[in-house]
Amino acid sequence: MHALRSVLEQAQQMRVAVGHFNVADLVLLKAVFVSAQELKVPVLVGVSEGERGFMGVPQIAVLVRSLREEFDFPIFLNADHTHSLVKAVEAAKAGFDAVVFDLSALPFEQNVRQTKEAVEALKAINPSILVEGEIGDIGTGSEIHTEAPDLSKSLTTPEEARQFVESTGVDILAPAVGNRHGMLKSMVQGEARKHLDIERIAQIKKAARILLTLHGGSGTDDNDLRIAIAAGINIVHINTEVRVAWRRGLESGLAKQPDEVAPYKILPTAVDSVKQVVLSRLKLFNSEQKLGKGL
Ligand code: G3H
Ligand code: ZN
Repeated sequence: MHALRSVLEQAQQMRVAVGHFNVADLVLLKAVFVSAQELKVPVLVGVSEGERGFMGVPQIAVLVRSLREEFDFPIFLNADHTHSLVKAVEAAKAGFDAVVFDLSALPFEQNVRQTKEAVEALKAINPSILVEGEIGDIGTGSEIHTEAPDLSKSLTTPEEARQFVESTGVDILAPAVGNRHGMLKSMVQGEARKHLDIERIAQIKKAARILLTLHGGSGTDDNDLRIAIAAGINIVHINTEVRVAWRRGLESGLAKQPDEVAPYKILPTAVDSVKQVVLSRLKLFNSEQKLGKGL
């Protein structure tokens, strides 16, 4: 039986990160699973409130569990950016492996109080579920944004991180370290990249001594990602990049076969397009030489 906590602890020891990719349909799920299987590395599938609303909470849970069991493969399911206890409880009851309980928009004290309550409620449903808390502002929306508001005043401090982790009992922390959700057009075109505050990551790791997730991974400089993982990042979230690849793959599948109406003949082009992104990100997070040793 594969357990997410031990997979993350092993990744931490090996100084690699587990890739987390959001899915909203079978094309994305298939692309993520097949890529991880090809590289023999564990993987996390994430569904935001919107994505799981579309797929169905029990349905996505059953799909991911069936892949894990049938192929004896470490693929796990995360309830990404969950903004209420009701939705978090729904995911825990459906058998999700992890929940990102995101009250980062609230004042710090309120975020601490309600996250602590959520940790207790979720662990009462499933003691091995992992709960991630979030502090600081990393913007919203895995989309293509026209502008990038200044978030430099809302970065997480090591002291806040320590206090938050000690007071809430979360298993994983998502800090604001120069990362942000979504991509600018210039990033989609490969002309600009996001950069991370590596020193802050190292200080947060030292102060909070906890598993760390980097959200907003799309469009981040490759080398920054490598160093961030060495500095203590254990999970990296990628969504916008796979969404862009999904759309491009779908458009090209439709354009290539204008008279075809059988979805299973058109959609493999979309799976391939998403796979290219997932494979390249997984290779980076797991650093080439360590591939296949984490299973
Ligand atoms: O939770 C989802 C991620 O943080 C995705 O961010 O769309 O910038 O890759 P991204
Ligand atoms: Zn996120």
